[in-house]
Amino acid sequence: MRLQYAWNAIPFILLFCAISTNKIFSNNKPFSFTIASARSLLQIDPNSGLVQDKVKVGQILEEDTQNIVNMTMNVSSGWSIVKEELILPARGAPFNSCHASTIVQIEEDNFLVAYFGGSREGAPDVKIWLQRYSDGHWHPPVVADEQDGVPMWNPVLFQLPSRELLLFYKIGQEVQKWSGAMKRSLDGGVTWSPREQLPPGILGPIKNKPFLLEDGRLLCGSSVESWNSWGAWLEVTKDAGWTWRKYGPICIKGQPLGVIQPVPYRTDDGTIRVLLRSFETIGHVCMADSIDEGVTWSYVRETELPNPNSGIDGVKMKDGRVLLAYNTFSRGTLKLAVSLNDGDSWDEVMTLEDTKGMEFSYPAVIQSMDELIHVTYTYNRTQVKHVVLRPSSMVKL
Ligand SMILES: *[C@@H]1O[C@H](CO)[C@@H](O)[C@H](O)[C@H]1NC(C)=O
Ligand SMILES: *[C@@H]1O[C@H](CO)[C@@H](O)[C@H](O)[C@H]1NC(C)=O
Ligand SMILES: *[C@@H]1O[C@H](CO)[C@@H](O)[C@H](O)[C@H]1NC(C)=O
Repeated sequence: MRLQYAWNAIPFILLFCAISTNKIFSNNKPFSFTIASARSLLQIDPNSGLVQDKVKVGQILEEDTQNIVNMTMNVSSGWSIVKEELILPARGAPFNSCHASTIVQIEEDNFLVAYFGGSREGAPDVKIWLQRYSDGHWHPPVVADEQDGVPMWNPVLFQLPSRELLLFYKIGQEVQKWSGAMKRSLDGGVTWSPREQLPPGILGPIKNKPFLLEDGRLLCGSSVESWNSWGAWLEVTKDAGWTWRKYGPICIKGQPLGVIQPVPYRTDDGTIRVLLRSFETIGHVCMADSIDEGVTWSYVRETELPNPNSGIDGVKMKDGRVLLAYNTFSRGTLKLAVSLNDGDSWDEVMTLEDTKGMEFSYPAVIQSMDELIHVTYTYNRTQVKHVVLRPSSMVKL
């Protein structure tokens, strides 16, 4: 989707013309927007009157399709929500509970999401489910894999440049006992190979998508949650999951209950960096570096971002910014922050959710071919929510 207006101009349009419904002509095409007070974003920060003034709902004409799409922009960060939707049918989800979504773009306007679902997390009936977005809507969930009497966990989708699609997941009675498994698809997820068990001790990407190096090696952020011992590993495969090497542990000195679920990427100076979820006693998103392509690792240090022992995910954007989705003090608040220096410092750009008593967790974040950002996350354990965002322009206002 390509929009016809330079988004860094929109804040000014909204600030100066935001009276009621307006029509603005640009390139001879009408652009209309309304200021809606019904948008949930407006409820996000009840303590701040300013935020209410700074979140505007607009409509914009898509260049290619002539569709009017609604957008909500945070004027102070310049980030907009293009679309948000729950992906499961309102009634008739084939399970009570679902969690741990992952999203991949197959091709333009074609996405695949996977998650685990069953009667509750860890129940013997929990299977891996897949849902496709194509022809402008989400299709019903289909089973990707199941094991009689044994729950499945944390799927991760990734498409290689060859277009081979990988689906990683875990199978086992509990987290401490799970083992890694995968399937492959050569037709964009229509048909899948039989299940392949990963080698003993290799769990595959544990929650977040892998990062592909220029030389074809796939860096998979993995981790272990065993008794009084939490830590991360980097599992590396150079042949799409047929053979593996494992490097680490990535851990906190003197802190047995430390960090898990790495988000790997390469910094502008060539370092391989991971962002990590941490245990409650640490309470912050953490970070570790490798200057030898992931083989040896620094000790972990804390970033300024809070983390209530809850899953995070991020993406190194094509323009070099790093975007991270994270919970703040509980799973009831889900925010996005961006870093211009690969994670050394962060700026908050959007509050996606903020409702006490609900759970918005385990985000998965990708940047699509059109440079929009897609985030999926657990919506109170009964739904998966999909939010599409337009990043702010890099131009500093
Ligand atoms: C855009 O917002 C208007 C007013 O809230 C609503 O009627 C319309 O259905 C929305 N369109 C889309 C595509 O979401
Ligand atoms: C809007 O962006 C600012 C940063 O520019 C951020 O502090 C604030 O939380 C955002 N508001 C919402 C409602 O997303
Ligand atoms: C969210 O989940 C909690 C815990 O299951 C439940 O008590 C609450 O009613 C749910 N809220 C909504 C709005 O579905």
